[in-house]
Amino acid sequence: MDLKRIFELLRASYGLDPKRGGMAKALARHVEARLEALGIDEPSYVERIRADASERARLVHAATVRHSWFYRDPDQLDRLAELLAARHAADPGRRLGLWVAGCATGEEPWSVAMLADERALPLRVLATDVDAYAIADAQAGRYGAWTLRELPPRLWRYLRPAGEQQWSVDEGLRRRVEFAVHNLCDPPPPGCFDVICCRNVLIYFEPARAHAVVAGLRASLRAEGELILGAGDLMFQIGLGEGPSVPGTASAHRLAKPKPKPTPTPKPRPTPRPTPKPTPKPKPTPKPKPSSEPEPPRASAEDDDSDAARLDQAGAAVDSGDNERALELLEALVRSDLLLAEAHLWAGIAHHSLGNDGEAAQALRRARLLAPELWPATLFAALNNERRGRWQPARRCWAELERSIDTPDAPAIQGTPTLLEALPRWRGEALALARQRKGRPDGPP
Ligand SMILES: C[S@@+](CC[C@H](N)C(=O)[O-])C[C@H]1O[C@@H](n2cnc3c(N)ncnc32)[C@H](O)[C@@H]1O
Repeated sequence: MDLKRIFELLRASYGLDPKRGGMAKALARHVEARLEALGIDEPSYVERIRADASERARLVHAATVRHSWFYRDPDQLDRLAELLAARHAADPGRRLGLWVAGCATGEEPWSVAMLADERALPLRVLATDVDAYAIADAQAGRYGAWTLRELPPRLWRYLRPAGEQQWSVDEGLRRRVEFAVHNLCDPPPPGCFDVICCRNVLIYFEPARAHAVVAGLRASLRAEGELILGAGDLMFQIGLGEGPSVPGTASAHRLAKPKPKPTPTPKPRPTPRPTPKPTPKPKPTPKPKPSSEPEPPRASAEDDDSDAARLDQAGAAVDSGDNERALELLEALVRSDLLLAEAHLWAGIAHHSLGNDGEAAQALRRARLLAPELWPATLFAALNNERRGRWQPARRCWAELERSIDTPDAPAIQGTPTLLEALPRWRGEALALARQRKGRPDGPP
């Protein structure tokens, strides 16, 4: 099927780069199903998309990656709460405005609303997304245990039981958040905001469009307002940053409106260290492909076979200890598709084995951002943090690892047969380590 015209429409109207998120396969399946259901050919379908908003909404739903969970990137959210508190303290009589652009199914705005409510901040949240189906789910405000796995216990008071393993957002919180369908390529909603969060949205955009969107978002900020992007947006959209990224965290990239901040200095590459062998770890086997809760980033159709073959080889190389060879293969792979979560996982394991702690941390962070259900990445992140003496982040990783493995409604990890075969073996060991180490005091094992 020739999807060129549909790709073109997604690029032009929504900024989405079908190759970037590798959405080609999902789109092909969607279009095929629609042609059959409607009994029309492809040119008529393209016409229909242009003329019929509901058909277009279906297409957008098929093209987007609505990957989110409560309390995603806690450091960043905590800083956001501090920032809002500071703005409130500076002007206590005024209601604060926050726009969450690209809110998917609502986990992010609800999390921020909880943080604002517990601090008694007068905050109004506008949460938008281009996907009308996602907005309907966000408005319904009903969630399962997997997406709530990271929510700190104190914030569960904002949820009410709503059936088996389901929770519904509290009425009081609902008054704080308004949801609407909005395309970031269209003019912004009216108003000026104290803070705009646009986290983990631009990684799916063409770089030029991502830059234009950032400029548009900044224009919607109040004086000294802040734009907060996701760590993934920065990592994948090289050159987006005008403000400092916070070293050592996956978080808090803020672009303030009026005060241009210094261009970030390129981070020095950590000096390669002689190779300590990796800490106790389940031996990996090869290969990947992103998977995620509602819809994972997907490999692009035209690259599927070669990507899978190269991932196989890279995984086998890691498995046999040939980490340098694996990294060569993985670097090429990541160059062709930045969003291959499992490629980042293998790169993280290879770097960890080589003692390149900084690179390992980055690669593992990318894997976890792209596919949080890929718990082996959390396992290696925990080990990596421990080796660097970063005890608190290590404990967080162990706790997260335990929750990820133990949660019954966790989405299944998708990957190659070799990876899937290895998971049960790793699982027992990872769980035992997580339970043993999650609460232990600072210091080496
Ligand atoms: C991975 S989710 C991020 C959700 C949330 N911000 C977070 O960090 O957890 C990306 C969201 O961006 C939305 N999106 C993609 N293109 C968009 C556009 N042109 N305008 C608005 N939202 C868009 C998708 O529908 C999807 O829900």
